[in-house]
Amino acid sequence: MPGTQREVNFRFLAQPTDVNFGGKVHGGMAMKWLDQAGYACAVGWSGAYCVTASVSGIQFLGPILIGDLVTVRARLIHTGTSSMHLAVDVLARDLRSGDERLATSCVMVFVALDRPDGGRPTPVPSWVPKGEDDLRLQEYALKLMEMSRAMEPLVTAIRQKSAI
Ligand SMILES: CC(C)(COP(=O)(O)OP(=O)(O)OC[C@H]1O[C@@H](n2cnc3c(N)ncnc32)[C@H](O)[C@@H]1OP(=O)(O)O)[C@@H](O)C(=O)NCCC(=O)NCCS
Repeated sequence: MPGTQREVNFRFLAQPTDVNFGGKVHGGMAMKWLDQAGYACAVGWSGAYCVTASVSGIQFLGPILIGDLVTVRARLIHTGTSSMHLAVDVLARDLRSGDERLATSCVMVFVALDRPDGGRPTPVPSWVPKGEDDLRLQEYALKLMEMSRAMEPLVTAIRQKSAI
């Protein structure tokens, strides 16, 4: 039911087809997992089709190896009118030792649309933070949004000058 499930977790084993030439999981594969878990969380929360609007603060903190148990965790940390800001993390567990580490982390913004084809942004149920951890994460989302808005004029100017 929309507005009830704040978190989505995917769990699977890192496979030989996921790795790069150095034997570690591709950064691009980790980004695909982030987008998929974020999408599932955003659609579940909003009950609408959603598109990815931005990815901020992405960090690749450590390698993911073949056979690691991967957990991709997407958590809602702020809602606007039609936007949902999610903290999305990839954790990797060595099954033999049981050690789990944070491998990749970012904040993604998804926007709910009223229909998949040529849809317009549509309101989502609002999420209310509970407790200090939620408030800290919401503050982080708002700070990242502020920083990304501050960068927009620079990005636009560079794009226009360089015809990107
Ligand atoms: C995201 C998108 C729907 C926003 O459309 P828009 O006409 O700019 O809509 P609005 O200006 O009314 O903004 C709607 C919401 O999106 C948010 N938004 C728009 N651009 C954003 C960006 N670059 N980063 C973060 N949030 C953004 C706004 O803050 C607003 O949030 P709110 O409703 O909570 O206040 C549109 O830019 C788009 O379709 N982008 C392409 C998405 C895409 O193809 N993604 C990859 C494949 S899924």
